[in-house]
Amino acid sequence: MPSLLSEAVRRAKRSARQAENLFHRALATAGARQPESRISADAQDYWRHSADATWRGNSHWRDAPVFGGTDLWHRIGAEHLELFDAGARMCGFDRPWHRVLEWGCGGGANAVHFAPRAEEFVGVDISAETLQECAKQVGAVCDTPFRPIAIDVADPEAAVARIDGPCDVFLSCYVFELVPTPEYGERLLRIAHDVLAPGGLALIQIKYSDGRWRTRSRRRAYRRGLAEMTTYPIDEFWQLGRRCGFTPKAVHLVPRNELDERYAYFFLAREPEERK
Ligand SMILES: C[S@@+](CC[C@H](N)C(=O)[O-])C[C@H]1O[C@@H](n2cnc3c(N)ncnc32)[C@H](O)[C@@H]1O
Repeated sequence: MPSLLSEAVRRAKRSARQAENLFHRALATAGARQPESRISADAQDYWRHSADATWRGNSHWRDAPVFGGTDLWHRIGAEHLELFDAGARMCGFDRPWHRVLEWGCGGGANAVHFAPRAEEFVGVDISAETLQECAKQVGAVCDTPFRPIAIDVADPEAAVARIDGPCDVFLSCYVFELVPTPEYGERLLRIAHDVLAPGGLALIQIKYSDGRWRTRSRRRAYRRGLAEMTTYPIDEFWQLGRRCGFTPKAVHLVPRNELDERYAYFFLAREPEERK
């Protein structure tokens, strides 16, 4: 009965993963956190080198097996664009998109939907190969110039000087959960505020913690749980946005979707009267 056997193996692997996850969380709770420098180095090591089908799936490459035979890859960006448009209407954001920046653009699932509406699309990522893949996907759907910016995990601020002018839209989806720590996420928020033009709008998706200890930020063993590294309580991220200079306008919750769970999308506005 090979199917019964493979089901048993699948379950055993899942239980082992859950046990390992709890083990790391218990260690972190007991104070055995890794320093951010170590987690950043592990993140760099993971994303920098393209690898197997799992890596391509994690990077949201269109040809990854996880998207095979479905329209999921297409729907990621289509739904994000629909959400952005709804949020923009609510915020009264109706300016032209001269420059759109996506932080952690991956294989272009969002870019292929947002770039056709922009005069220029800037993709920031830590993987040069992923930026090439994103450029290829954007080029297949529109003539909008694509500017790739590769950064080192440890120095995200280096991107700012290379962006070459203010952005109207800042987008980051399925990325904040992967950053080394919540404090690092705060640095990204400050960058978002810096690069947005006055009157610009950011849409940032985070994974939220819901009060249970196993949903807090992981703070160790990056490779073994990259999609759970960084979480925030919803109200805390709202306040963090404010501390970074934004006016938080709205939050949209997705408790579960086909990819994972506990997602919150924040619309954060940079006020028009601010001076750069
Ligand atoms: C799950 S993919 C998301 C791709 C795209 N945003 C989407 O929604 O389809 C995550 C991407 O974030 C990139 N990434 C991970 N950590 C990053 C960081 N600290 N700064 C910028 N990009 C990062 C990875 O290389 C990968 O391409």
